[in-house]
Amino acid sequence: MNLENRAAIVTGGAQGIGEAVCLRLAREGAHVLVADNQPQKARQVSDEIASMGNRSSSMEVDVSVKQSVEEMVDNTLKLFGKIDILVNAAGIFISSPIEDIKEEDWDRVIAINLKGTFLCSQIAGKEMIKQKNGNIVNVSSIAGKYPAIYSGAYSPSKAGVLLLTQMMAVEWAKHGIRVNAVCPGPTDTAMIRDAFDSEERLNRRKKAIPLNRFATSDEIAGAVFYLCSDEAGFVTGESLVIDGGSIKSMFYLMEQLRESG
Ligand SMILES: NC(=O)c1ccc[n+]([C@@H]2O[C@H](COP(=O)([O-])OP(=O)(O)OC[C@H]3O[C@@H](n4cnc5c(N)ncnc54)[C@H](O)[C@@H]3O)[C@@H](O)[C@H]2O)c1
Repeated sequence: MNLENRAAIVTGGAQGIGEAVCLRLAREGAHVLVADNQPQKARQVSDEIASMGNRSSSMEVDVSVKQSVEEMVDNTLKLFGKIDILVNAAGIFISSPIEDIKEEDWDRVIAINLKGTFLCSQIAGKEMIKQKNGNIVNVSSIAGKYPAIYSGAYSPSKAGVLLLTQMMAVEWAKHGIRVNAVCPGPTDTAMIRDAFDSEERLNRRKKAIPLNRFATSDEIAGAVFYLCSDEAGFVTGESLVIDGGSIKSMFYLMEQLRESG
């Protein structure tokens, strides 16, 4: 196993991509703290990990609240004695045309997606600096690379996560800490299903992806695992796109338009 006895925190670990990351890291031998603001679901994930023979616990955490994040880090140190891996997967999506974005929605998305990633990284990062090693993977999005229209504050929040990833990678390289991001395209989770109001719109969205389907959470977790593993020992400040060819698809989409007359 590649991550034998590593200690990991996964935020947003109760469901979707975060849950798949928790289970993948555990299968690779890691002990995992499942941190989420849905405590019951987080508990179920940590019970599943414990049944695999790994040490695991869950905790109700709001990543946008500094005190909650401090408790998460303290708890991890009490449980495992160290923090080798932090995966920032907690996130929310609230769509809106720019002219209609509500101030409270803007603030909430930025607070969870961007400030949450900052707080967890800063507070866990201080421990990693003391340890002189650590590994952080941030779950950004292809919406952080290109403007996802009508995504409200989501696209700007994920672009901020990518810049923060690069800053931390360079500033903390001297402490033996690697920091990378994954940029999923549409992935089959509650978040994407909630973003589309009909099966027909979901299917149309899938057809715009060259691989003609959404990613699975396990496929994103595989990329997160790679970045956490020693196989990626010289990779830092990078963002790995996992999108079925979406962001390279301008000519593909033009061809589809031509075919549909
Ligand atoms: N699904 C996609 O198509 C897609 C694409 C690109 C990026 N992403 C990103 O992947 C990550 C996971 O998304 P998902 O698709 O699994 O969505 P999801 O809604 O299934 O999971 C998000 C998790 O984050 C938790 N969460 C939300 N706010 C929180 C807070 N304040 N504190 C702690 N936990 C909180 C939720 O309880 C939930 O368990 C997000 O950052 C999302 O932006 C998703």
